[in-house]
Amino acid sequence: MKYSQELAHNYSANRSEYNDTDPVLFAELEAVGLVGKRIIDMGCGDGSHALWLAEKGACQVIGADLNEPMIALAKEKASQQANVNFLLADGSKLPIASKTMDVVVSNYVIHYFPQAVHIFNEISRLLKDDGYFIGTFNLTDVEEGFEHLYNQAMPIRLQHSHGSVLINNLIKPRSEIVQAIAHSALIVLKELEINNLHSVVDESYPYKNYIKKQSVLMVLQRAKRSTQSSP
Ligand SMILES: C[S@@+](CC[C@H](N)C(=O)[O-])C[C@H]1O[C@@H](n2cnc3c(N)ncnc32)[C@H](O)[C@@H]1O
Repeated sequence: MKYSQELAHNYSANRSEYNDTDPVLFAELEAVGLVGKRIIDMGCGDGSHALWLAEKGACQVIGADLNEPMIALAKEKASQQANVNFLLADGSKLPIASKTMDVVVSNYVIHYFPQAVHIFNEISRLLKDDGYFIGTFNLTDVEEGFEHLYNQAMPIRLQHSHGSVLINNLIKPRSEIVQAIAHSALIVLKELEINNLHSVVDESYPYKNYIKKQSVLMVLQRAKRSTQSSP
């Protein structure tokens, strides 16, 4: 999805109010250990998490994002940090060598990829053996008969104290995520349902009564031996 300059600025200006799910994400990241690690923040937005990862001792942090206004904000924020770099790139096709990352982190980004299999294969390609993916995203299941909504845009309102930001997510069913992970070299270590109080399906959405949006955190690990070949 395209983030205009206005949307990127609005999102970034209110980012500190959308951080109610950060503690659970940070706890899982700290549990795998960050000191001396090479980490990519996929869909890094304005770079807030990339900076936090560097403060926690990661030796190299790469923030990648598809939208130029987000990368520009991130570069401004991190201009003094030698070990943090930002890349304007699609998360499913990153110009980074295979098996070079200890951790891939991604906060509310997976539901933007039209085909989950592409992003989980890319995550699995980037990770070293035993490396971790730790990410949050929306899973949205639909009532029987509404399967045509899969991968269609759904308007999400992110509420903050003096207004809201409207962004489109794709409707991403659990079945697609499960199949994509099974097709990669990743295994599921943990899944938590998390309460994202600021993110609600917009009232204008005509199918809101036929869908159920869930917010989840997954911890995945790249299996040591895999038949999948790296490109
Ligand atoms: C909801 S924001 C989350 C940003 C950041 N992770 C955070 O926690 O603030 C989603 C981000 O995903 C980025 N994004 C969307 N599609 C992408 C893609 N195909 N590749 C990389 N980034 C993408 C958007 O530009 C946006 O910055």
